[in-house]
Amino acid sequence: MSLGFFVLWNVSCSGKHKTLTIKKERFGMFDGKQANLYTLTNDKGMVVKITNYGGIIQTLTAPDRNGKFEDVVLGYDRLDDYLKDSPYFGAIVGRYGNRIARGRFTLDGVQYQLATNNGPNHLHGGIKGFDKVVWSAEPIHEKDKVRLKLTYLSPDGEEGYPGNLKVAVIYSLTNHNELEIEYFAQTDKATPVNLTHHGYFNLTGHCKRDILEHQLWINADYFTPVDSTLIPTGELRPVEGTPFDFRQPTAIGARINDPDEQLKYGRGYDHNWVLNQADGTLKLQAALYDPQSGRYMQIYTDQPGLQFYSGNFLDGSIVGKGGVVYKHRYGLCLETQHFPDSPNHPEFPSTILRPGEQYHTKTIYKFSIK
Ligand code: BGC
Repeated sequence: MSLGFFVLWNVSCSGKHKTLTIKKERFGMFDGKQANLYTLTNDKGMVVKITNYGGIIQTLTAPDRNGKFEDVVLGYDRLDDYLKDSPYFGAIVGRYGNRIARGRFTLDGVQYQLATNNGPNHLHGGIKGFDKVVWSAEPIHEKDKVRLKLTYLSPDGEEGYPGNLKVAVIYSLTNHNELEIEYFAQTDKATPVNLTHHGYFNLTGHCKRDILEHQLWINADYFTPVDSTLIPTGELRPVEGTPFDFRQPTAIGARINDPDEQLKYGRGYDHNWVLNQADGTLKLQAALYDPQSGRYMQIYTDQPGLQFYSGNFLDGSIVGKGGVVYKHRYGLCLETQHFPDSPNHPEFPSTILRPGEQYHTKTIYKFSIK
């Protein structure tokens, strides 16, 4: 994987391990552009590796209750594997995260047709979304965090979307074992925008077990039920009395096989939760816990929705990092975002960005132990 060491920046603070570093190495070439791998390390020893191909988080380590750092995300060792076939492992998803029904929407009286790449629907930005482009990258240093800024210009008409969209995503690693992700965008024509991070988490460390014993908490009284093609019907359904109630931390496997029509459509969980008290400010809205390792991940976000996908389409056909086979439900996604298909649901919070406006959202994944 490592094709040559390039640069090492240090943000030096006092004390033996008080160092935040970022290292850059070559990862490969795509579309005639150089993809690098940036390794961010904090003073605790937590490591986040990010490639500017797709803005992918390739590695993310977190300590267990014995202080042992292990990788808690799925992915590949080599760029070529990402290029061949990746179910959005660790990527930035855009211009629109999740589905838009039949790839169609009407905006200011004009009908747009997007690329369709998921049955009849548009998924995660289309055939070549933000997960499949090379971003420009710039390391930034601050006193208490190390950051990588990625930028991409999505041209007018890309995948059918209106407007030139200037996008920036800033990843920051702090000395408190937090990974912060900030998303920015500006457009010259009105367009839907819904950016998210598509990390597949498995807190057992290098996928020792599946994710069914992970306990999940989601601060949501409602979720958005879907049709058989996973498009929201428009209803906000109470989670009360359903397998979608995660208001108390609950093992993911506890109800996943219940005879429930929604679970049947998703082949498990693949739904959007309507986060409580989402008023645009950063709030603790979800948490994931692996009782065996003690690893605990809290999610703070300013977004109104959370797509929880329980890795239902992983089937053992993918061999990932270190030769590990990614079997059914060996990873799960917690994507902070707006609701799927919002451009066709005026009753959902709006995802339309207009010229002169600044899109800015933030999500923090904080790692600790319990
Ligand atoms: C979607 C799933 C999809 C997965 C991988 C998730 O965000 O909700 O339906 O299979 O991404 O593509």
